[in-house]
Amino acid sequence: MNQGKRWRIGVLPGDGIGTEVVSATMQVLELLRDRFELGLDWQELPWPSTAWHQHHGEMMPADALEQVRKYDALLLGALGDPGPLSDVGRYRLSDGDSLAPLLTFRKGLDLWACERPARLLSGAPQYLADPRAREVDMLVVRENSEGEYVNQGGRLHRGTPFEIATQVEVFTRAGTERLIRHGFQRARQRLAERQQSGDPPKQYRDTVRDAPRRDYHAQVCLITKRNALPHWGELYTEVFQSVACEFPEIATHHELIDAACMKFVQSPWVFDVVIASNLQGDILTDLAAVLSGGMGVAPSCNINPDRRDVPALFEPTHGSAPDIVKQGIADPRAMMLTAAMMLAWLGVEDERCALAAKRVEWAVQQDLLNQKTDRAGQFERGGPGSPRSTADILECVLTLIASPESKIEK
Ligand code: IPM
Ligand code: MN
Repeated sequence: MNQGKRWRIGVLPGDGIGTEVVSATMQVLELLRDRFELGLDWQELPWPSTAWHQHHGEMMPADALEQVRKYDALLLGALGDPGPLSDVGRYRLSDGDSLAPLLTFRKGLDLWACERPARLLSGAPQYLADPRAREVDMLVVRENSEGEYVNQGGRLHRGTPFEIATQVEVFTRAGTERLIRHGFQRARQRLAERQQSGDPPKQYRDTVRDAPRRDYHAQVCLITKRNALPHWGELYTEVFQSVACEFPEIATHHELIDAACMKFVQSPWVFDVVIASNLQGDILTDLAAVLSGGMGVAPSCNINPDRRDVPALFEPTHGSAPDIVKQGIADPRAMMLTAAMMLAWLGVEDERCALAAKRVEWAVQQDLLNQKTDRAGQFERGGPGSPRSTADILECVLTLIASPESKIEK
């Protein structure tokens, strides 16, 4: 453990509600730092952002990737349309321009795993009527460095009737193997955590192995579209089968992406760890976010599990939400849970950060529960009440963290 270490965090609020949810989350981190003596130092950067582009003609300085390497972690709010939508004359960029830094960081820092946990916290909006939907607790691990997002291809005979657009997808064995092995390692970890918690073991079935065991308490499900995209689908399948041999205690399963979408809605509680390609994982994680309370509470991180010397990038799954910018109603809890993921990442080497991560999760969970009992109907926009304000949620979370039940033992 790295008790005396000071961690350097680069804070990138970005665009739109990114600045609102980051500002709230930094107040939470400040309280945690003071109260629990966390070794955190942070620096806020004005880029990447559309505002920076307005003044400098680019989303971030040319050496941004080098500049951010000095941090241990990066906390990013959101990129995209800065909003508000009512300001039709606002300075706006194409999605390709405003969102490019996200992909530059992910690929440039080789943050090849995007982890998006989807657990329905009690008190969070439950969009599925089936009561079993309360059990949703999965981790989608999305490939984050190659696949459909390599941006290779081009357009020929532009604007003519003979125009051709090509968009090449690239899947490497090395990229596939590290992703799949990481998914299995996470499944093993989740299994150990569940065993420690004393909860009754969940049962999973294995549909891939030739001679499956009878009893499995964890599963990895691989997603492909190998019936129509066989080249990478078969590569993924072969690597999955061979890596699975290293994890005999983990059940294995495969779904085609279209069927997975259906089953995420029909019976999401049967999934544990889900491994998907860059684009398919992108689509699936929006769906998974809705199954676990919506974008307002959906955290996310981009990590290189093999490299702790490059900064991991923590950003909620939601975007800049130009429709609600400057109304003070952006839900900061996805950002707070994202900050908790950052603390947990630092917590691998620093126990205090690990405990602080648990406190944030506990406080957000508690706030959701309180909201359900005290503020029924006030959660959703368009519902019977008005939405809770960012400031109200922040105040409740701060009060919870400062409450006596929320002590971290020294
Ligand atoms: C996400 C986003 C990004 C992605 C966009 C903004 C490029 O949708 O983080 O899920 O597709 O990865
Ligand atoms: Mn997305």
